[in-house]
Amino acid sequence: MRMIGKAGKAAAIAAIAALALTACGRAESPTPGGTAGGEAFPKDSSIGVALPQKTSENWVLAEKLFNDGLNGAGFKADVQFANAGVSEQQNQISAMVTKGAKVIIVGAIDGAQLGTQLKQAKDAGATIIAYDRLLLNTENVDYYVAYDNFKVGELQGQALLEGLKAKKASGPYNIELFAGSPDDANARVFFDGAMSVLKPKIDDGTLKVLSGQTSFEQAVTQAWKSENAQRRADTLLAGSYGSASLDGVLSPNDLLARAIMTSVKAAGKPVPVITGQDSEVESVKSIMAGEQYSTINKDTRKLVEHAITMVKDIQAGKTPEINDDKSYNNKVKTVPAYLLEPVIVTSANVKTAYVDDPVLGPITK
Ligand code: BGC
Repeated sequence: MRMIGKAGKAAAIAAIAALALTACGRAESPTPGGTAGGEAFPKDSSIGVALPQKTSENWVLAEKLFNDGLNGAGFKADVQFANAGVSEQQNQISAMVTKGAKVIIVGAIDGAQLGTQLKQAKDAGATIIAYDRLLLNTENVDYYVAYDNFKVGELQGQALLEGLKAKKASGPYNIELFAGSPDDANARVFFDGAMSVLKPKIDDGTLKVLSGQTSFEQAVTQAWKSENAQRRADTLLAGSYGSASLDGVLSPNDLLARAIMTSVKAAGKPVPVITGQDSEVESVKSIMAGEQYSTINKDTRKLVEHAITMVKDIQAGKTPEINDDKSYNNKVKTVPAYLLEPVIVTSANVKTAYVDDPVLGPITK
């Protein structure tokens, strides 16, 4: 749960040293980056990485990057997907503890359901890094590494408004709102970020949500499943859009954007201005073809690289660098975070956005 406001980097770093001392119980130096008098654990130790379900391409890529990066640095990578759900992820984290993992990186399916396993991990001396998704209702999380989720939502809201204006100079515009899975802590943050931009325009009548469904609870897509978004879009179109046009859709990610576009096409309506996230191959192609309006570039390589940098620092007895100590309160503590900047991608910058990306670069040339 993101709190409003961000600290300046200097203030954040100062406060973090103190936080890390109490939260991590490992660092002895008052300055970030200072050594704690030697290695915290042997370099060939096991590092657990608990990933959720393969609900978007970024998770699949993360698996390979964690395996390559951790093994390449001399650690023993133990990377697991929990495709069967929360209890499988709980069992995997317990097994990582049993195998002696010194750091456990967690991309949670449900960030509020891992309290017992995280306590077990901390009691065994492991450091816990929340990856991409925050871990909730627990003191047993040391660091958070992610793209700035609130910013992702803001960028989506801004892109939707810009795309609508580019199509028709003035409103009102008919839009519908979709959110991610309510068990993923990110979903509400994305939605809140987008609504910080869109709500004033709903309130002043520029945007009209014909279904009337404007709350997070009404907009959610259980388990980030495309069929759930498609079904809801079918229902909204049938119930509220007889002859009316659907001008825009807030979609939290690319997979759901494509599902919603499928529904709109099946209803015989033109594709609306629609947002996304993740820079998935099919969606980047769709942007190039002038269908999907926007996506967000959250380069998974950079996120995994930063998580591994944290592991290396912890192993070396250093306090990992963080750049935010204010924004991510998990209802028990404010988790020291390293946030990366997401980038909005539309047809205007799709040819330059991925120049360094080995998969998307060649497609967008
Ligand atoms: C990630 C998104 C992703 C979604 C579904 C979120 O937690 O931040 O990038 O689209 O999960 O996999």
